[in-house]
Amino acid sequence: IPVQPFDLVVFGATGDLARRKLLPGLYHRLQAGQMPEDARIFGAARSELDDEGYRAMAREALESFVTKDDRTPELVETFLNMLHYVAVDASSDEGWSTLAERLGPADDGRVRAFYLSVAPRFFGAIADRLAGSGVITPDSRIVVEKPLGRDQESAHALNERLSTHFTEAQIYRIDHYLGKETVQNLMAIRFANALFEPLWNARHIDHVQITVAESIGVEGRGSYYDQSGAMRDMVQNHMMQLLCLTAMEPPAHFDPDAVRDEKLKVIRALSPMSPTDVARKTVRGQYRAGTGGASYLEDAEDADSATESYVALRAEIANWRWSGTPFYLRTGKRLRTRMSEIAVFFKDPPHSIFTDQVSSLHGNALIIRLQPDEGITLRMTIKDPGPGGMRLTEVPLDMTFADAMGAKNGTKVRMPDAYERLIMDVIRGNQTLFMRGDEVEAAWAWTDPIIAAWGASGEKPQPYDSGSSGPEDALMLLHRDGRRWREIA
Ligand code: BG6
Repeated sequence: IPVQPFDLVVFGATGDLARRKLLPGLYHRLQAGQMPEDARIFGAARSELDDEGYRAMAREALESFVTKDDRTPELVETFLNMLHYVAVDASSDEGWSTLAERLGPADDGRVRAFYLSVAPRFFGAIADRLAGSGVITPDSRIVVEKPLGRDQESAHALNERLSTHFTEAQIYRIDHYLGKETVQNLMAIRFANALFEPLWNARHIDHVQITVAESIGVEGRGSYYDQSGAMRDMVQNHMMQLLCLTAMEPPAHFDPDAVRDEKLKVIRALSPMSPTDVARKTVRGQYRAGTGGASYLEDAEDADSATESYVALRAEIANWRWSGTPFYLRTGKRLRTRMSEIAVFFKDPPHSIFTDQVSSLHGNALIIRLQPDEGITLRMTIKDPGPGGMRLTEVPLDMTFADAMGAKNGTKVRMPDAYERLIMDVIRGNQTLFMRGDEVEAAWAWTDPIIAAWGASGEKPQPYDSGSSGPEDALMLLHRDGRRWREIA
């Protein structure tokens, strides 16, 4: 079913995100029959291009980032004809009246969305100029993406600035992890099945491990990343969102504010870390040369950089549901492989009737795989088949979403990219998978003291080999609690 008619203006239209994700994502939505015929997509950037020039660039983007099987010449032409281009400069008056002319007067029922795929320092200026050129309509939305500030104070200032021209209901703060299929599935698994929720608390869950491991390094983004580090780049946003969805209370409705209220309560219930806690419960790492590639210091071009490319920490949620169940988070670059998952470890059975089997009795574990091979695995204990007596063994009950849905529908299922879903939600006006301003600020309020304590300690992050599974101290973080990380494999 097509969404309602819309005009989407993409600022930073010639950039990496637009080429890799936004244009291919919109093309896939056209393919799926979701784009209304009269949708218009305006590329906006500083380059002096015309519509034809932008379409040529978009054609190349589709050739590079949409598989051949998904590209049919007619559909590509239809898509390219939806594209237009306006040259604008965020720091001057240039182009803004042309943009207003091309958009035309406000049209009832037609959504106007402004996607700011640009460096955050331009967010405020672009919002001001949109207002100045009179293109903001009651049906307008603005889309921004991280980094949303670098601490609570700057995030608050950004929220204030955006709110001079847009209401909260018009501001879409993207965390692309919320658009990932498995992340949405986490809510379905928890709240559409009666099986897990009764066990989803500290009485039955021993601990939770959330891992986002990447094999890539900073890949040419050294100047941004070196000012940011893994804490600001991954933990404050993606990891904390995963933690919130895992730990939140069931919202009364599946609607934006009900979900976001519950997430906010989780963030606010996180035990704050004192400098002593930071020393005991967090680990920072930085990759050095190894089988996975060169050292971070070469990528960052600062031979003395103390920026972390890895973080592991033990978070505690001080509320009735979770008191006593630690949430261990870890994320890093240039690790052994790309693997992201949420692993929920249940407690051992309270009593064993298999008295000679104690050592092989383990609690169940539910592994929710974000990537690769999106799916879930339930670790079960069963009897080892055969006449050898009651010998117990652990096996996975395994499902990938693509296979399960493929088997059900009799066709191969393509897992849509996060951005596809999120852009369509912007047009539909559904903010459930977007962060509210207060959530972003509350997340900074928790991470700011950790970052400050690292700075004050003067200690450097612990080196780890590129291609390894991270620094030694991260192993110790769990070891001390009598637990072990799942392997990054
Ligand atoms: C981005 C970070 O938000 O997420 C990158 O800035 C990181 O550093 C990326 O590589 C990871 O996203 P994904 O979807 O590839 O897991």
